[in-house]
Amino acid sequence: MRPVEIKDGVHWIGAVDWNCRNFHGYALSSKGTTYNAFYIEDEKKVLVDTVPAEFESQFICSLSHLTKLEEIDYIVVNHLEPDHAGCLARMVELCKPEKIFVSPMGGKALNTFFNCEDWPVHVIKPGEEVSIGKRTLRFYETRMLHWPDNMFTYVPEEKILFTSDAFGQNWATSERFADEVSKEVVDDLMTQYFANIITPYAPKVAKTIETFQGLNLELDMVCPDHGLMFRGDDVGYALEKYKELAAQIPKNKAVIFYDSMWKSTERMANAIASGIASEGVSVRVMSVKANHHSDIMSEVFESAAVVIGSPTHNNGILPGMADALTYVKGLRPQGKIGACFGSFGWSGECVKILGDWLEKMNMEIIEPGIKAKNRPDHDTLKDCFEMGVNIAKAVKEKTGK
Ligand code: FEO
Repeated sequence: MRPVEIKDGVHWIGAVDWNCRNFHGYALSSKGTTYNAFYIEDEKKVLVDTVPAEFESQFICSLSHLTKLEEIDYIVVNHLEPDHAGCLARMVELCKPEKIFVSPMGGKALNTFFNCEDWPVHVIKPGEEVSIGKRTLRFYETRMLHWPDNMFTYVPEEKILFTSDAFGQNWATSERFADEVSKEVVDDLMTQYFANIITPYAPKVAKTIETFQGLNLELDMVCPDHGLMFRGDDVGYALEKYKELAAQIPKNKAVIFYDSMWKSTERMANAIASGIASEGVSVRVMSVKANHHSDIMSEVFESAAVVIGSPTHNNGILPGMADALTYVKGLRPQGKIGACFGSFGWSGECVKILGDWLEKMNMEIIEPGIKAKNRPDHDTLKDCFEMGVNIAKAVKEKTGK
């Protein structure tokens, strides 16, 4: 895509990755992603972030539409992850910048990514300001949004905040701003992105938003490094949406995810789902064979109750279930009700193992797990239904619905 002037002298120079389908374990289905980077034309010419290395030639071409590369004075590195610093070494080589701005943690990590001994690195002090002519760059450290090195860059004269990964969405589009597409789609994509990338750092997000609101920065535009940018009224929407996501307030719904060998555990899952639905609570039933773990995580993120099932397999649980649980546990969703179930043939460890997973995820276990030998009989399915009813009652109590 050609550069887009988002304000006088401030240009989007990102790359649209139409074909990206897996973003370190987060499946993007058919949506792809966008890497945003920016160029500011002032007395000092400034590059803010770059794009992945595979887009290097396109990136150089975009930037060359706007300036001679050797005229770039400053490079701001808001984040070192290769989706944003993938072209940094090449840019340093071509631009020979006067200064490269990184956060304190970025300064510590820079030489673990690059041979940067002779680079003109300037490690910022949080809140530090640098004049670039008519405008100013002000840097804020935002550790763990999403790595230790992340920072935001604010341009007060333009009222623009460049936020790196925060407020991003994974979506390949020709549109650049959230007000050019349906708000429902943006809402859904922000939630999926948060669930699959930012959830472990939710407490940091809450604190960061609170800190920024306390600073009373004037904001016309919030520009993340992924997906659509926010301007005008959408700035407030983006901030409120992140506050809401960081609070992890569950919806009046439950998710059941499971694996099954010969459909016995699946029958139990469906009976539990019937019990949950009978109480008017929404429920999703997700086989790990039919659903990617990142889609499961998006449902877990929104649900008040998480019910997990697997038959016993080689004294353990099925590997597909272990995969999904590893992914979900790593993202540390908080404040969930948990329950488990599964069939077995002889040794029957599944429910104990699944219960241990629930405990490790700090879930509130409200029901003993249900086991079925070989095939769930009528009484066992009735127990599963009753378990569903009890889970739904607990969900309603938790959500006040
Ligand atoms: Fe989009 Fe943490 O990189």
